[in-house]
Amino acid sequence: MNNKKIFISRMFPGKGAELLRTAGFSVTEWNEERPMTQDELIEKAKVHNALFCTLTDKIDKRFLNECSHLEIISQFGVGYDNIDISEATRLRIPVGFTPNAMSDATADIAFGLMIATSRKMFYMHKRIEKGEWSYFKPKANLGIELKNKTLGIFGLGRIGMEMAKRCKGAYNMKIIYHNRKANPKAEQELNAEFVDFTGLLKQSDVLSVHCSLNTETKGIFNKAAFSQMKPGAIFINTSRGLVHNETDLIEALKTGVIWGAGLDVTNPEPMQPDNPLLQMENVCIVPHIGSGTVEARVEMARLAAVNIIEFYKNKKIPHIVNPESMINK
Ligand code: DGY
Repeated sequence: MNNKKIFISRMFPGKGAELLRTAGFSVTEWNEERPMTQDELIEKAKVHNALFCTLTDKIDKRFLNECSHLEIISQFGVGYDNIDISEATRLRIPVGFTPNAMSDATADIAFGLMIATSRKMFYMHKRIEKGEWSYFKPKANLGIELKNKTLGIFGLGRIGMEMAKRCKGAYNMKIIYHNRKANPKAEQELNAEFVDFTGLLKQSDVLSVHCSLNTETKGIFNKAAFSQMKPGAIFINTSRGLVHNETDLIEALKTGVIWGAGLDVTNPEPMQPDNPLLQMENVCIVPHIGSGTVEARVEMARLAAVNIIEFYKNKKIPHIVNPESMINK
């Protein structure tokens, strides 16, 4: 039995809590469905050594300074834009995360949204519900095909790679991408071609966003960006809603600047039910379910627990966001 106390901020699937208890930690779990308020989280974190949290927890400067005693923060998720990483690093609090676990699940959602959008599936479903399926109309309800089209990936990392593989395998799509740095594996295995941001906008038939949210990517898909895309293009976002400007996206879709959009992430979340995007024919939206498979979520919980266990056992965090915070620990 060790004397470290771990607080788990949500009800997570899988065996994260069990693994921690088996390793001898004293574990307290938040046992309500809703996310905690920041005040509630601070109150709990104050009396624990480590925090196991997720994207609904606001780990900003206020939180970090009130809870600067925390020895490790372990995020359940590949994204960590809810955490002020530079402040955590300044306070020398290491932050763990759970990459890889959800790459397939999220790529499946991007791929699914691409197909659903290209054939207006969600809108057609709603029309049946409204009693609007009258008879076969040869000229109505036409979608577009994906075979041999160009897929542009913005942020070709683990998830983008899985999306690219699916598109190459299913539709022989040409893969182009824009990243901070080149991805030799994708170039070798998928014949992917690195292009600048303008090239990505201009050449993509489907443009799928897989970047992380940061100061460079926030709002990058705005009016100026959409205006350079093809009128037949489909915009897919499964990363973070703040990467696109929603007002500009609505305008681009309404005026035919681009053809359609498939979104797993919106801005804000949750999206309000009267949002105009929900009424659009060529738009498919799901409520941030990219990592939402049993397999992915169970593995995420395991990885988040292992990050804590390894930190206390070996002073090593297998998946760490800010290794600088560990120097001389
Ligand atoms: C992530 O991992 O960042 C997803 O968006 C939520 O699970």
